Amino acid sequence: MFPEEGVSQEKVLSTLQRLLEGEGYVGGRVLSSMCTYPHPFAKKVFEAYIERNLGDPRLFPKTAEIEKEVVSMLGELLSHPNAAGYIVTGGTEANITALWVARNSSGKRRGAVVASGEAHFSIAKACDLLGLEFRVAPCRNYVMDVEEARGLLDEDVVAVVGVAGTTGLGLVEPIEEMAEVAEKAGVYLHVDAAFGGLVLPFLKELGIEVPKFDFSLEQVQSMTVDPHKMGLAPIPAGAVLFRREEMLNSIAVEAPYLTGGLYLVKTLSGTRSGASAIAAWALFKHLGKKGYRELVARCMKLTEYLVKRVEELPDWSVVTKPMMNLVGVRHERISIERIMEELTKKGWAVSRHRDFLRIVVMPHLNTNIIDDFVQDLVEVGRGG
Ligand SMILES: Cc1ncc(COP(=O)(O)O)c(C=O)c1O
Repeated sequence: MFPEEGVSQEKVLSTLQRLLEGEGYVGGRVLSSMCTYPHPFAKKVFEAYIERNLGDPRLFPKTAEIEKEVVSMLGELLSHPNAAGYIVTGGTEANITALWVARNSSGKRRGAVVASGEAHFSIAKACDLLGLEFRVAPCRNYVMDVEEARGLLDEDVVAVVGVAGTTGLGLVEPIEEMAEVAEKAGVYLHVDAAFGGLVLPFLKELGIEVPKFDFSLEQVQSMTVDPHKMGLAPIPAGAVLFRREEMLNSIAVEAPYLTGGLYLVKTLSGTRSGASAIAAWALFKHLGKKGYRELVARCMKLTEYLVKRVEELPDWSVVTKPMMNLVGVRHERISIERIMEELTKKGWAVSRHRDFLRIVVMPHLNTNIIDDFVQDLVEVGRGG
């Protein structure tokens, strides 16, 4: 109810505490989320610049410069420091924007997109919004079967989408093969690295072999990468990156009322959080590549520990060897519905993908939490 008369801030705050306490990452038993606590420094910076509006870039030209540098830093990680693009609300907006550019630059109003069944549901949303047909390519071992996908390409296709860090298992689709197919067909290639974009570059630096997935492949026209996932930036902070600045002209709209007069807006959102860009900038500068490398190394070590513990258990197994800090876990006989129910009863925030548990090993986890979880798996397994 909207009150007629307001009450004191203290009263509102204590009500909020009562309404909100205990949810989320508190207690750490959260295995289902690709987000985590934002870094405290980023929170501080976010609050300090909370009124900055990137939707009015001539009123906030310095914030717009900072945004450019964040895009460039992300581009540097993804083999293209001259990338153009924006900080957006998340992977969904990034994917919609990329496919909007793909459709408009194809010169067609209608058309189709080819992505695998492991692509994030935001691709289906984008197709729906843009009036595009979503052609779902079959998978082999939970990534696109590119040979099969070839058959889906024809003159209607405006884009192929590959995922670098699938939502379900954190796998990297065969982007290099997709690039060949896209080149042959003369089709736009978008890579959704919402999660993997801030993991894979650091895995590479740690000496782990990572297949090609980024702008180092000439055919990749755009990429999604989310600072609010493994980047530890406050929500909302996604990013969409493009190979060339001019590509964005295809979605430009005239905004007559902005500060300084007519402006060509090339984003989906109007008013946009400048604080999101500034906080991501501050965090990148503060942690540096070394900081992120250490973060990724810690999550990977924990992931390996989880895999080892699961594989020691009778009847439990991992679905496939993880490429990043995301693991699928299943029981030989107990249904995923039962497993989810039992673990939820035990206080775990869990999620599923297809017929297995999907465990995202985020920085809020540690070995003690993993040990508790494994113990509960043993108990759930006994019930089977
Ligand atoms: C691969 C991938 N793309 C896109 C998204 C959507 O991101 P958001 O929830 O920030 O819109 C996700 C979310 O988990 C994802 O895993």
